[in-house]
Amino acid sequence: MMHALHKCLLFYLLTCLGLHALGSEIIHGKKAPQKLMLYMASLQNDAGKHVCGGFLISEDFVLTAAHCKNSSPTSVVLGTHDLKKVNNDTMRFKVRTCPHPSYQKVGTGNDIMLLKLLKKAPLNKRVQPIQLPKSVTKIKDNAKCRVAGWGYTTTRGKAVDVLQAVEVSTVNLETCKKEWKCGRVTLPANVICAGGYKTDKGFCKLSSSQGDSGGPLVCGGAAVGVVSFNYGGNCDYPNAPNVYTETSKYLHWIKKALKQKNC
Ligand SMILES: *[C@@H]1O[C@H](CO)[C@@H](O)[C@H](O)[C@H]1NC(C)=O
Repeated sequence: MMHALHKCLLFYLLTCLGLHALGSEIIHGKKAPQKLMLYMASLQNDAGKHVCGGFLISEDFVLTAAHCKNSSPTSVVLGTHDLKKVNNDTMRFKVRTCPHPSYQKVGTGNDIMLLKLLKKAPLNKRVQPIQLPKSVTKIKDNAKCRVAGWGYTTTRGKAVDVLQAVEVSTVNLETCKKEWKCGRVTLPANVICAGGYKTDKGFCKLSSSQGDSGGPLVCGGAAVGVVSFNYGGNCDYPNAPNVYTETSKYLHWIKKALKQKNC
């Protein structure tokens, strides 16, 4: 009882530090194998600076988080895990941003955005889209999934040039809601929780514009979630689950855009 109360108070204090959802970081991750995660996209601003992650879902659409629009991404880099090795002619693709029409701000839901590539990405051994879930299916609790990004690797550390990946487990939604409520945060609808709960693996938010936000939560080969937010604060002790936008709940909106080749 005391222990639970203590944990709750601690969580509340940490949560008070803020729910700033711009940057985030992969902690305790490893370099992603070069031949895997060929769908990863780095969202970059006009200056060619990495601002968010994203993932290719067709030859001309990338899926990411809507809050990434705040960092003004104008292009995506595809086909490399190493952001020091970007060939603008072959790897950089100009994009148009299409946040979900119901998105307002981070923490209130619908944190999902399509990026329309102005020209098609050639699919090859370095660039391949990832599949989305086929339909709305309940994700099992404790499923082993993977998340990747170019964000910071420790609290207030530096962004990395080489893609990092980490294994995370999904967390029961009710447990996750309780844990967040303890920090006086009500989770929005259409989210999945994973990592950051009784584990030292996951992603962390910082009030910075560089991070893992927008990257995919990959379970069983499909992109079931988009990195949305966790609490601001000490990322070395993330005791609240991380929150992802559930892609299967947005299939109708996504499919319509892909079919019309417009958004
Ligand atoms: C590549 O594109 C970025 C973003 O437009 C730009 O900042 C950078 O200077 C370009 N690099 C080269 C070598 O042209």
